Amino acid sequence: MKKLVVLSGAGMSQESGLRTFRDMGGLWEEYDVMDVATPEAWQRNPELVNRFYNDRRKQLLDCEPNLGHQLLAGLQEDFDVQIITQNVDDLHERAGSRKVIHLHGELKKVRSSIDPELIFDLDGWELKLGAKCPKGSQLRPHIVWFGEAVPAMDEAVEITSQADIFVVIGTSLNVYPAAGLVHYTPSNCPVFIIDPERPALKVKGVTFIEEKAGAGMQKLIDLLANL
Ligand code: APR
Repeated sequence: MKKLVVLSGAGMSQESGLRTFRDMGGLWEEYDVMDVATPEAWQRNPELVNRFYNDRRKQLLDCEPNLGHQLLAGLQEDFDVQIITQNVDDLHERAGSRKVIHLHGELKKVRSSIDPELIFDLDGWELKLGAKCPKGSQLRPHIVWFGEAVPAMDEAVEITSQADIFVVIGTSLNVYPAAGLVHYTPSNCPVFIIDPERPALKVKGVTFIEEKAGAGMQKLIDLLANL
């Protein structure tokens, strides 16, 4: 089976009702990244940071995978599909995708503040300040904050470098190192971008599908049939 590798971003989950970051009405219009998505913010104001992620976790409970997630999961019948997502929601998995790497962490998990190997599924949406890891530290969101390392990046680069087909869905390609993955595809690997807006990043030989994720996936499936 051909390896179909996907890099997804917030736009993938927009039709499920989750906000993107940099679109009109995006999260970074309402919150300052430096106040809610950095280790310094967590030290300075853990209540605000914790509330930001509790609110997003609570919202996620009311969201379902959209057509884009479902069609992507369906491609597993014909391709060895590996998803590399910047998203912290679990909608790819809930749609049935079996191979998902979360570059920026997972909203439904929390981890020790002193031992990053101690990761736990969070029951419900609310992480409480005062909840401790077995080593006695405050549990924190299992999110990669700005300025922190992206532990899964080496694996993501390795997978991308083996792709037969590379598909970018719903990301502005603004944030590195994730955005840099598009430069690791093999030279003969076709690249498709599904997005209602053409990303600024120039990638040669790209097939641009100017659609939202659901409609874009339908067009992609037609194109893949003729590859
Ligand atoms: N379908 C497909 N794409 C969409 C849709 C949709 N329904 N709606 C919006 N988009 C596109 C936008 O045009 C934009 O290109 O999704 C992209 C969203 O871009 P961002 O808001 O920048 O989100 P993303 O690229 O995932 O951000 C990357 O930045 O803040 C950090 O850690 C955060 O993982 C995030 C990273």
